[in-house]
Amino acid sequence: MKFFVDTANLDQIREAYEMGVLDGVTTNPSLMAKEGIKGEENCRKHYVAICELVDGDVSAEVIATDYQGMIREGEELAALHPNIVVKVPCIAEGIRAIKYFTDKGIRTNCTLVFSPGQALLAAKAGATYVSPFVGRLDDIASDGIELIEKIVDMYAYYGFKTQVLAASIRSTQHIIQCVEAGADVATCPLSAIKGLLNHPLTTSGLATFLADHRKVNS
Ligand code: E4P
Repeated sequence: MKFFVDTANLDQIREAYEMGVLDGVTTNPSLMAKEGIKGEENCRKHYVAICELVDGDVSAEVIATDYQGMIREGEELAALHPNIVVKVPCIAEGIRAIKYFTDKGIRTNCTLVFSPGQALLAAKAGATYVSPFVGRLDDIASDGIELIEKIVDMYAYYGFKTQVLAASIRSTQHIIQCVEAGADVATCPLSAIKGLLNHPLTTSGLATFLADHRKVNS
């Protein structure tokens, strides 16, 4: 399973990349706003800065919600850097735009997906990635991981090439559940990725090894 980091924060992206396990980055307009990045030109410079930090796919989301606007914006974003994947919301105009981008060889990430039916349309339009939002479904007492399982099964059954990119991951446990569900990618906060390292037996075992080493070496 590939790991993407779900942030527009350059320090966090650098830290995740330096861990040696990062395969890409996802951003969205809220994450860009959180970093205080405003204006089209600054957003574009920021996407290029992210692409220069990471050897992998970087999702950049269109703001337009009409077909022509999405096409214009998506083509401009795709031209910024070869790593850019154009992120498009799962609405009717978005599905049409994804089909256009697919035909042009521009890679896409269909975002804000909350049902198998939406994932089916994204795959039929040729999306490179589909982003089901796990945490936001859990927030409304639905089951985000179950949606990942259903989409993985549907894509396998019909042989769709669209990769399942589990998004809205909130915890380390979510990452493990995505692995079990067979997601192709999980995009996660850096803290959730680092949480995979935590085990009390690793901590206590290392302390014992070092203490034993000190006993005979001091
Ligand atoms: C990334 O592609 C999504 O936009 C992101 O994971 C959403 O996460 P959130 O539900 O925590 O805002």
